[in-house]
Amino acid sequence: MTEQLLKEAKKFQKKRHWNHAAACYRQYLSESERTVQAEVYADYARSLRINSETNKALDVLNEGKRLYPDHERILLEFHNLYDFLGNWEDTVGIARQLIKLNPQTADYHFRLGRSYSFLKKHQLAKKSYQTALEFKHGCSFQNLVKKIQQGFVKDAARIKTTYIFIDGKNNYGAFIHEYGDRKFFTKISNYTNAQIGAGREESFYQKVRVRSPQLHSLTPAYIDSQIIDNVSYLTIELVKSTAVTSDSAVWVIDAAQKIASAVPYQELVTQYPPPKYVFQFKKGRAISVVHFFSRIHEEPYNEKLFAALELIMKQNRYPGAVRHLMKRLQSAIMDNQLYQKIKPEKHYSLLHGDFAFQNLLFDEESQCVKVIDWSSYTVGPHFIDLARYFTSLLTPYSEIERLYTAKQKLSTIEHIFFLYALTLFYFQKMGPKSRASKISDYILPAIEDLEFLVLQKKLNQEGDEMTDISKQLAERDLQIQQLEQRNMILNKEKEYLRMELSTLQSSKSWKITRPLRLFTESRTKK
Ligand SMILES: Nc1ncnc2c1ncn2[C@@H]1O[C@H](COP(=O)(O)OP(=O)(O)OP(=O)(O)O)[C@@H](O)[C@H]1O
Ligand SMILES: [Mg+2]
Repeated sequence: MTEQLLKEAKKFQKKRHWNHAAACYRQYLSESERTVQAEVYADYARSLRINSETNKALDVLNEGKRLYPDHERILLEFHNLYDFLGNWEDTVGIARQLIKLNPQTADYHFRLGRSYSFLKKHQLAKKSYQTALEFKHGCSFQNLVKKIQQGFVKDAARIKTTYIFIDGKNNYGAFIHEYGDRKFFTKISNYTNAQIGAGREESFYQKVRVRSPQLHSLTPAYIDSQIIDNVSYLTIELVKSTAVTSDSAVWVIDAAQKIASAVPYQELVTQYPPPKYVFQFKKGRAISVVHFFSRIHEEPYNEKLFAALELIMKQNRYPGAVRHLMKRLQSAIMDNQLYQKIKPEKHYSLLHGDFAFQNLLFDEESQCVKVIDWSSYTVGPHFIDLARYFTSLLTPYSEIERLYTAKQKLSTIEHIFFLYALTLFYFQKMGPKSRASKISDYILPAIEDLEFLVLQKKLNQEGDEMTDISKQLAERDLQIQQLEQRNMILNKEKEYLRMELSTLQSSKSWKITRPLRLFTESRTKK
């Protein structure tokens, strides 16, 4: 009977029904009279993690670890969970433990490199990635470089190649090649399949880019790609660039619009459809917002998104004001079933998918924006890329209005969904420790405008039956309600700042630096 539960759990796992899989494992663990296998703890924790039930997943793993302290599957799932939570000090510890057990496993060195990269220990990260690549290919670094060069040059004597670390979280560094007066860039990353990550970026350069002149001018030229032992080496033209900043908004908006109109919708869904995402709203990861918005016209994806959001806020003790605002967002969208108004054939287009400022380079030569890192390209509402760009720079809401929404002609429903996405990107960027003072510059005004647009849409739909007076009254009601709520949030904000000040004043460092402050104050007075 209990063995049947395990079979069921595996079946659900295969079908990606993580909720049901977790339920079967839970029952198995409570009913089984035999010693539970280590793999069961790992699989159970995995289902919980994908369901965002991270606290429970950690309990299950700790229980497993008590029985099997050095089991690779359990340690690997610990690693996946800490990676999901962004606990990089912990992922370093686990990766080291895994390397101790199996020093020649390339994957463990890659994992260690990624953690160092998040912790900004760049030299250590570079070394781990180099070690990983040598184990992965079973050859020296020199021979590896030769193989890559042979992909695009005949005369190896004329090419000079250097390995560099590029702050890689999803890449393992890069090669820079100098060949006469040309320069190329080889991005090194893990290859899983043609649908995701490096495989998807490769297919963008080989299939999508070539069919659109607009994309040609917006992206570096494609040179070569090789997949060796499941590592991808994608070589493109090197862009000599300065970083894109908030001053570049006009160019960036233009680039996003060109991307959106580069490939017709019908062609996108038939020839380059989005991969099968595991729909998870990961704390702090903007990409999960993009995934949900690729299906935002369907009710279940909105429901799943808000359920995950609630769980994240509960598990990470988000401030009451943020939780309250997210409830308001949920009720504006769900009570009015607004997703039904989004029509893929009308609103969806090609999206870059990770349109953050780091992936936009200002090319000094052509004096225009070049967009790199196409591994997340997808199909969804055309304004998502811009919502991601503005929030990647944590642009205040009033600036976004000035630079984008006040100038562009978005329809009411597009505007509402732009604000819906914007709020979620802000939420991801700011995290649980977001000061209340930040809320009133970012999330709060976006939600207020969204509610106003939703009300106007409703009033327009009810149309002729309502007099102008009753429309005005409804708008006034909303304004009063919003003012009351704004007041409440600002009071919370004040309370929070007062608390912070008193903690600071009673801290040791505040007392130690008192003489210095008094000295500076007396100088300023003079
Ligand atoms: N063609 C290029 N020319 C010049 N620099 C480049 C080029 N492609 C990538 N880079 C540099 O390498 C960095 C990482 O590249 P990319 O964003 O493609 O990799 P990634 O694996 O997605 O990195 P991350 O996960 O950190 O976003 C870029 O931010 C940029 O500085
Ligand atoms: Mg990138």
